[in-house]
Amino acid sequence: MSELEANLASLTARFERAVADAPDARALDEVRVAFLGRSGEVTGVRRSIGTLPPPERPGAGKVINAAVESMEAQLTDALARVERAALERSLGDTIDVTFPGPPARLGALHPVRQVAIDVARYFTRHGFAVVLGPEIETDANNFDALNIPPDHPAREGLDSFYLRPDRLLRTHTSPMQVRSMRRHGPPIAIIVPGKAYRRDAVDARHLYMFHQVEGLMVGHGVHFGHLKGVLVGMCRELFGADADVRFRPSFFPFTEPSAEIDVKCPACHGTGMQDGLQCRTCGGSGWIEIGGSGMVHPNVLRSVGYDPDAVSGWAFGCGLERIAMKRYDIDDIRAFVENVPGFAEGLA
Ligand code: PHE
Repeated sequence: MSELEANLASLTARFERAVADAPDARALDEVRVAFLGRSGEVTGVRRSIGTLPPPERPGAGKVINAAVESMEAQLTDALARVERAALERSLGDTIDVTFPGPPARLGALHPVRQVAIDVARYFTRHGFAVVLGPEIETDANNFDALNIPPDHPAREGLDSFYLRPDRLLRTHTSPMQVRSMRRHGPPIAIIVPGKAYRRDAVDARHLYMFHQVEGLMVGHGVHFGHLKGVLVGMCRELFGADADVRFRPSFFPFTEPSAEIDVKCPACHGTGMQDGLQCRTCGGSGWIEIGGSGMVHPNVLRSVGYDPDAVSGWAFGCGLERIAMKRYDIDDIRAFVENVPGFAEGLA
């Protein structure tokens, strides 16, 4: 090995050690200046070419150039390495807020809320106003003004939640009929969605807190045909154009005549049978009840200062859970309050 080659080999070895030891970009730059700079070590070796016999000079130049090329490549690699290390150190264990997270899970409206929205949309389209009322009522509004006699079973503490002798959680949305009529003269056309409370034992069809939507229309010449038409229209909108609706004679102290509103049972489609047995959802009748209705009783009109000879009206009250059960094929009302994850999303 020539003396030049021996010098170059030791220089390269020192260079490599210096690169490996350089902790950062600045140290690497110092190494570059020390070895490859204008007055660096490689320049010294280049100068020694002049001491060689002329025929050996070109070969020596090539060897030096090759060494320089490899040194430059090593510096580039080393620079990338220290920069990456510096970046990683600067991140430490902090959170990278720019990193995309898992996709957010979108929720869905609760089916009772969805039904309330759809009912409200139907009625506002027909000129009704949506109003809300208090859940704590006087027994005068909840019962007396609605022609419910003092000895009616619903007035006992066994059926209602009393907070004080004269205050209770409303057992239906009907007291809003009274509040609205006292506040506004006829004509009136409102719906009232909201919660109602009854001391019912909880089972597949009963909760002690549930939702109703009350409807009330009062004016000159308002008759049962309007009520029927509006409710059939509502059922078609909620359950489809071919929904069967039935009005069954019934009794409420605050309406006369009265009718319960039935729709075809979603489980047996009106046959009353399922798998050769009596249908459990409707009890074999083929119909399920979604609410009560009727012509506002003259005593109720009188209690709010209306003249029953001048105006007439109809009212209805439907259970929103009942409607949602029919619409989404839910066979147990408790499903609405159990908060099972994915319940609402699964129905949409
Ligand atoms: N308030 C009655 C109930 O809760 C329903 C109803 C409302 C009936 C309006 C007739 C008229 O059962």
